[in-house]
Amino acid sequence: MTALPSGELVPVLGMGTWHLAERRSRRDDEIKALRLGLDLGMTLIDTAEIYADGAAEELTGEAIAGRRNEVFLVSKVAPFNASRRGTVAACERSLKRLATDRLDLYLLHWRGPIALEETIGAFEELIRVGKIRHWGVSNFDVSDMLELVSLPGGEAVTTDQVLYNLTRRGIEHDLLPWCRARGIPIMAYSPIEQGRLLGDAAVQAVADRHGATPAQVALAWVLRLDGVIAIPKSGTPAHVRENRAALELQLSELDIAELDRAFPPPTGPRPLEML
Ligand SMILES: NC(=O)c1ccc[n+]([C@@H]2O[C@H](COP(=O)([O-])OP(=O)(O)OC[C@H]3O[C@@H](n4cnc5c(N)ncnc54)[C@H](OP(=O)(O)O)[C@@H]3O)[C@@H](O)[C@H]2O)c1
Repeated sequence: MTALPSGELVPVLGMGTWHLAERRSRRDDEIKALRLGLDLGMTLIDTAEIYADGAAEELTGEAIAGRRNEVFLVSKVAPFNASRRGTVAACERSLKRLATDRLDLYLLHWRGPIALEETIGAFEELIRVGKIRHWGVSNFDVSDMLELVSLPGGEAVTTDQVLYNLTRRGIEHDLLPWCRARGIPIMAYSPIEQGRLLGDAAVQAVADRHGATPAQVALAWVLRLDGVIAIPKSGTPAHVRENRAALELQLSELDIAELDRAFPPPTGPRPLEML
């Protein structure tokens, strides 16, 4: 578990939902996968209004039906909807699709043309009326975070959800230390680089040493740091079980050193990458 700035604890290993609900034939497995994840304690679920045009939220709603109180539910407003009124309306649509009365965390998906003050104002209103419990951002670099926290109400930001995995280490130079110093957890998206890390020889070598899988090594590596939450997506129940077991994998100093050689940490600032 890791603490939000409010002190509330959330699981460090959750589940993503991008590319769920895109194929009818996969639906039963995808719902089973999310439910299994809940059974195994991966109770943070990340979704967004844009995933499968709302269908990922609907599928999530179906998966958590009757279990809403077990879940820390995260969704996101798209930047083109993130005006004062647009955010409130988008949230209401998301709640309907998710068949719930509240989100635990609502994020601005990425920065768009609408002034941040408007989105913050809408988030504050949504909190006042009980439709969301916390708000945060996604794909914000340090300069965006600095601007955000300088605005009235901006200090209430609860997380920054960003791309972070072995092949995308830029945030270690600046964004990650900045967030950790303020007690703001990072939510690492695409923690296994959408599957592209699975065939890597260095990752495989570490996995072999532990009798583990490359996915587990990639996840254990992201989770080696306090204040980092990982949200792998899987619509395959066996993969969800495998991902959950990554919480038991402790990487050694040798493992970390080998992975550092294969995927060097940043030596200077790099612009935040996005997928
Ligand atoms: N804020 C943003 O801008 C943003 C951007 C990207 C992603 N996200 C969020 O982060 C979540 C995760 O990122 P992602 O979906 O891009 O990539 P990811 O979690 O790194 O990788 C997902 C892919 O890996 C496969 N996979 C998962 N576990 C596996 C395992 N144990 N063994 C083998 N294959 C495995 C999945 O296939 P199966 O389904 O078959 O397991 C899927 O193809 C998203 O779903 C979304 O919620 C947010």
